[in-house]
Amino acid sequence: MSHARRTLFLATLACVLYTALALPPCARDDEDCRESRMHPDLPDLPQGRILPRKIDGDDTNDYWRNQGKEFIQTKMAQKLNTQKAKNVILFLGDGMGLTTHSAARNLIGGEEQYLSFEKFPYTGLSKTYAVDVIVSDSANTATAFLCGVKAMKGTIGLSAQVERDDCAATLNTTNHVHSIAKWAMDAGKSAGVVTTTRITHASPAGAYAHTADRDWEDDTEVKGDCGADTTVQDIAYQLIHGEVGSKLSFMMGGGKRHFIDSKLYENGTRSDGLDLIDQYKKISDRNAFVESRTELNNLNFSNVDRVLGIFSDSHLQYHLETDANSRQPTLEEMTRKAIEFLSRNEEGYFIFIEGGRIDTAHHDNMARLALDEVVEFSKAINAARELTSEEDTLIVVTADHSHAFSYSGYPYRGNDIFGRTPSTPGDSKPLMTLSYANGPSFEKFYDVTNKERRDPTTLVTGDVHDQFPATAPLDSETHGGDDVAVFASGPWAHLFTGVYEQNTIPHMMAYASCLSDGLTVCSTA
Ligand SMILES: *[C@@H]1O[C@H](CO)[C@@H](O)[C@H](O)[C@H]1NC(C)=O
Ligand SMILES: *[C@@H]1O[C@H](CO)[C@@H](O)[C@H](O)[C@H]1NC(C)=O
Ligand SMILES: *[C@@H]1O[C@H](CO)[C@@H](O)[C@H](O)[C@H]1NC(C)=O
Ligand SMILES: [Zn+2]
Repeated sequence: MSHARRTLFLATLACVLYTALALPPCARDDEDCRESRMHPDLPDLPQGRILPRKIDGDDTNDYWRNQGKEFIQTKMAQKLNTQKAKNVILFLGDGMGLTTHSAARNLIGGEEQYLSFEKFPYTGLSKTYAVDVIVSDSANTATAFLCGVKAMKGTIGLSAQVERDDCAATLNTTNHVHSIAKWAMDAGKSAGVVTTTRITHASPAGAYAHTADRDWEDDTEVKGDCGADTTVQDIAYQLIHGEVGSKLSFMMGGGKRHFIDSKLYENGTRSDGLDLIDQYKKISDRNAFVESRTELNNLNFSNVDRVLGIFSDSHLQYHLETDANSRQPTLEEMTRKAIEFLSRNEEGYFIFIEGGRIDTAHHDNMARLALDEVVEFSKAINAARELTSEEDTLIVVTADHSHAFSYSGYPYRGNDIFGRTPSTPGDSKPLMTLSYANGPSFEKFYDVTNKERRDPTTLVTGDVHDQFPATAPLDSETHGGDDVAVFASGPWAHLFTGVYEQNTIPHMMAYASCLSDGLTVCSTA
């Protein structure tokens, strides 16, 4: 039998088997019955329990004992690195909770695999709540992991004195808090921002903007909330003309629409008559602008001081929606260029690099896209670690917040993560391994008229845009409040162990590279 036919045969057989084993619900007061359902004995697959992707020997004690010993040896060989970090790179997987990167291992070969950053020597957990809410968004979290203080949901680069949408408080510079990108540039280093979202989106804006509403990406948005005569600057304007934005030397992402007036560019959304990209070019003939991967590849860095790359009107496309001829560079390609460009500064650099579309895919319950974006994010980090030295470059990888994303059931080893579990719900319809607590897919998977679930395996077809079941209907799936992991490699990486508040992260990065943010003291001065 061909591999494909065999897989189909096994899947069909398993499906029949699982369905036949659907159990009647336990009586409410039958505790033994209910207990037996908590950790059920699963039905055997036709060829035994384990599908073909089994690791040789992983059913022996030796395999696991040796694995344990090897890990101890790796730890024993690890030396504390207390050098000063010349360079710091912060990688952010937007919305990359623990369930998300754990599930993504399945795409790179199986549960036994590690994403590049999961091999980093030190890990910790970051508590992501905001000053006003328990479950955060990308705006207040960017203020925490870039500027070092917790703030109000929806605000960026402002202290917690400022509530969302407070126009007057945004203008009061006493309320402004500055990011580690500024701390680094104040110390003579270069700084850059790279993202797969609009470069005016909440996470990258944390590096350079002060705004009481993450939606104030252009002047039209600001005027809508603060009035036509407001002097509050939008995020795009702050990138080109702001105190920090105007000094960043490497900027890449999407969001062209927010930089140009609608009368000057058909997809522009500004209304103040400005073309900020044109203004950026006119500031200096050594300010380079690129809008395609080819232009980026052909750019001769020796002739330029600053690079702005804007590759789309809004977010960059999902990696799975692109092909080899795509106009947009991959996150790995942008990362390589950023390091090559910023390494020219002898004093070092700080770069913020975001895999921003993990989050947007989850909001649409599109787990295939989300997990693929994690794999792309992992490739970018692998490239960064290869291109830099662990001796002088601290790399920190984390997420801003988690998602209402569940990785559950009791799928067999070797199972497709996007497939069903052997669990047998009372309605005899399959249960998927991946699901969401809420989101737009609810009515696709639940027949509201007949008040019953539809068979999810008939709705998950293998398309890159496949959605996964949500338990409650919401236009957009929500973030999660669980801690996110922090992975660190390089000088002072050992500081990043433990469970700590998210706003601690930039203080630790500043400590490692002797930056003065007013709170830390350089350890190796
Ligand atoms: C600016 O903000 C600070 C701190 O929140 C406050 O004490 C001060 O009164 C504000 N100034 C104005 C002019 O509103
Ligand atoms: C404007 O947006 C539309 C729809 O996304 C797109 O087809 C068109 O190419 C865009 N125009 C330009 C000049 O990029
Ligand atoms: C880049 O520009 C420099 C200075 O103008 C020149 O010496 C170099 O040959 C150029 N490199 C390439 C690959 O064109
Ligand atoms: Zn989000």
